[in-house]
Amino acid sequence: MTSQPETNDHLSDRHFAAVARVVESRVGIKLPVAKRTMVEGRLRRRVRALGLRDLTAYAELLFKNDGLDAELIHLIDCVTTNKTDFFREPSHFAFLRDVAVPQLTRLQGGSRPSLKIWSAACSTGAEAYTIAMVLQDLANAEQRLRFSILGTDISTEVLREARTAIYPRNFVAPVPGGMQQRYLMRSRNPREDLVRITPELRRTVCFERLNLMDESYPFDRDVDVIFCRNVLIYFERATQQAVIDRLISHLRPGGYLMLGHSESMAGSGVAGLRSVAPTIYQAAPAPQRRAAA
Ligand SMILES: C[S@@+](CC[C@H](N)C(=O)[O-])C[C@H]1O[C@@H](n2cnc3c(N)ncnc32)[C@H](O)[C@@H]1O
Repeated sequence: MTSQPETNDHLSDRHFAAVARVVESRVGIKLPVAKRTMVEGRLRRRVRALGLRDLTAYAELLFKNDGLDAELIHLIDCVTTNKTDFFREPSHFAFLRDVAVPQLTRLQGGSRPSLKIWSAACSTGAEAYTIAMVLQDLANAEQRLRFSILGTDISTEVLREARTAIYPRNFVAPVPGGMQQRYLMRSRNPREDLVRITPELRRTVCFERLNLMDESYPFDRDVDVIFCRNVLIYFERATQQAVIDRLISHLRPGGYLMLGHSESMAGSGVAGLRSVAPTIYQAAPAPQRRAAA
């Protein structure tokens, strides 16, 4: 086993505090001192990519005039945690299939219901493509169902991977066998243990950059289901609340918000939302119209 080489290259207390302040104010993510070693490790890669001398030189570049604007996008890529999986927290997808879709399509009434789903903080796309597989299976069985999925994230690096939609084969292991056959293509090169999402399924998802800290989101306000999972935990309570308020202003009446398993507290007590299952919340339905006499 090889051990990491010892390094004397560290951020000064002042520089770490400045980086943490910038990250929290622009991205919402808290960087307590306990994360210092992790942050330094990730930034050292950036130091090497830029051909800089050390972390001090990086901090100087960051905080000199205009340095931050040019570097922020890379800093964000370095400090965000992008862990994700296909069918992560599977009860949400069972709820989507068995409860949310039947109810929301009934609410729409018409002959060709059309659902809008948003995966906010989608990382490399596993969540958005899991939703697509579940909905495409339903659409195959129920020809009239149409749907579109939006995946957003702050990190340009993960969005690039999500659009490419190529994954190592062991990463797609949680995808049930039948869905693997319907929605995944094996690499033509047998030495590459990679799969790609089929073009038909890729066409149902579009990816865009969005910072959840922005004061407003330039998206539709009649979204049926929003997944915002495993990102709020990195934010302060007040930021969590503000993000949830903005997200639910994009839900149609009766629409659903799904949070990550450790984020249930974030959704409790939010006006206009009722808890319907652990980490699943529903926006108040539209007031019933009285039938014409
Ligand atoms: C741990 S991943 C969660 C991915 C997926 N939702 C899941 O549960 O598998 C968190 C994602 O949140 C993104 N993120 C962090 N801060 C963000 C912000 N302010 N706005 C939008 N996305 C953010 C990160 O880039 C990362 O891809």
